[in-house]
Amino acid sequence: MDKILVLDFGGQYNQLIARRVRSENVYAEIVSYKSITVKEITEKGYKGIIFTGGPNSVYKSDSPHFDKEIIDIGIPILGICYGHQLLNYLAGGDITPAKCGSEYGKTPLYCEKNILFENMPLVSDCWMSHTDSVSVLPKGFKCIAHTKKCENAAVYNKEKNLYGVQFHPEVTHTEYGKQILKNFIFGICGCKADWLMSDFINTSIQKYKNELKGKKVLLALSGGVDSSVTAVLLHRAIGNNLTCVFVDHGMLRKNEGDYVEKTLGEKIGINIMRINAQEEFLNKLKGVTEPESKRRIIGKEFINTFEKVSKKLGKMDYLAQGTIYPDVVESGKGDSAVIKSHHNVGGIPSVIAFDGIVEPLRLLFKDEVREVGERLGIPPELVWRQPFPGPGLAVRVIGEITKEKLELLKDADEIFRAEIEKAKLTPSQYFAVILDTKSVGVVGDSRAYGYTVALRSVDTDDFMTADWTRIPFEILEKASRRITNEVTGITRVVYDITSKPPATVEWE
Ligand code: XMP
Repeated sequence: MDKILVLDFGGQYNQLIARRVRSENVYAEIVSYKSITVKEITEKGYKGIIFTGGPNSVYKSDSPHFDKEIIDIGIPILGICYGHQLLNYLAGGDITPAKCGSEYGKTPLYCEKNILFENMPLVSDCWMSHTDSVSVLPKGFKCIAHTKKCENAAVYNKEKNLYGVQFHPEVTHTEYGKQILKNFIFGICGCKADWLMSDFINTSIQKYKNELKGKKVLLALSGGVDSSVTAVLLHRAIGNNLTCVFVDHGMLRKNEGDYVEKTLGEKIGINIMRINAQEEFLNKLKGVTEPESKRRIIGKEFINTFEKVSKKLGKMDYLAQGTIYPDVVESGKGDSAVIKSHHNVGGIPSVIAFDGIVEPLRLLFKDEVREVGERLGIPPELVWRQPFPGPGLAVRVIGEITKEKLELLKDADEIFRAEIEKAKLTPSQYFAVILDTKSVGVVGDSRAYGYTVALRSVDTDDFMTADWTRIPFEILEKASRRITNEVTGITRVVYDITSKPPATVEWE
């Protein structure tokens, strides 16, 4: 299988670059510049290397650098943004703050005829975001594109197969960005398009049939996309030697526990042990209002429950996990501030002894996991379900979690989701939140005093930033009317119109 290395210098688009390459059916892996050497790169047989962008200036002493031998090993390189500046710097060029100041946004790009710009017009829009630029080209390099403000917007060294672009071909704002990446991976690197999900499934099933022959495997099933696809894939390979433990902590959406059990258990035939631990979780959460404490308690209680069950099951050889590629990727970035501790229910219980861990999806991006799920025959409503946080509705019940508030929330949330789906809207995530505040209402002729529900719906590509969804008023109105009519105990419905940042998607 042909492989492209995405050498990560801390750019915010590193995963996007790898996804773009993979969407051309060429395998790409992201490795931090800190954790690979030139020798390892040579040995691993990459067909091409992409240097990612990054927030630094190459001439600063603490900026990410790389062994300059990389440019002489004969593997084609495409440098993007910071990667372009670094490539030129390593080859002996000069990088300085851009003469005309920073350039940011959509800009016309004027290209010369070059293999990198095959099958696209010579003038098109590109997406720029830089402060520095290449002011003096290294020996052997030629300029092949410019913008009004940036004279060396793209450069190349024909003899060594080195290419650099100051703009971002991986973002959709660059009109022919996809074509430029295709020209690099196929035209310049000569890759074959042989990364296919159908092959991935067959190879994985065969591999686990051999490796796990006669072994017992345990999986913590959450009902989310990743653990469900892991379960079905492993079930195909080892059948009933796979046991899935599904801990129902009571903070799942309405009827979700039954749905998961029915779809994966009864229909697909996976061996599922459902543990109804609602009461235990609620007891542990009694009186707790602080969001991070809720998360910690749920994570801990989940592990306790899982441990108790696995003790009963006797010796299991392997633990399977639904880890996916973004969980695995190391980034060149420094540690970012912890806004929320996103520990997922399903962390490894360290006290249970296993001979090993099986992570069949660890090379796949989410969209690839979904494709695998569809090909394995998992129903689309499960494969395409919106993200759901590990701690579940616990982070959507503001203040203390009580049985009453949980039930009201489940009903309101079900109505809101149904109305969105009926209207055929497809926001990235949409749900209800129950507040800790009660307010006065009128029901018939009497006074009512009930809870307030906030509806939240966002559109986003990566959940790092998000915009609130412009849901048509009629749909909001219908959801509000249905919730206040059908859910006794809720007297007020509000719609959250805050983007992320400054808000987060979840309220807690
Ligand atoms: P925030 O609220 O951080 O959410 O803007 C971004 C995305 O992450 C999900 N989320 C979580 N997922 N455990 C999870 O598995 C958590 O504790 C958690 N908190 C938030 C959230 O639903 C959204 O998709």
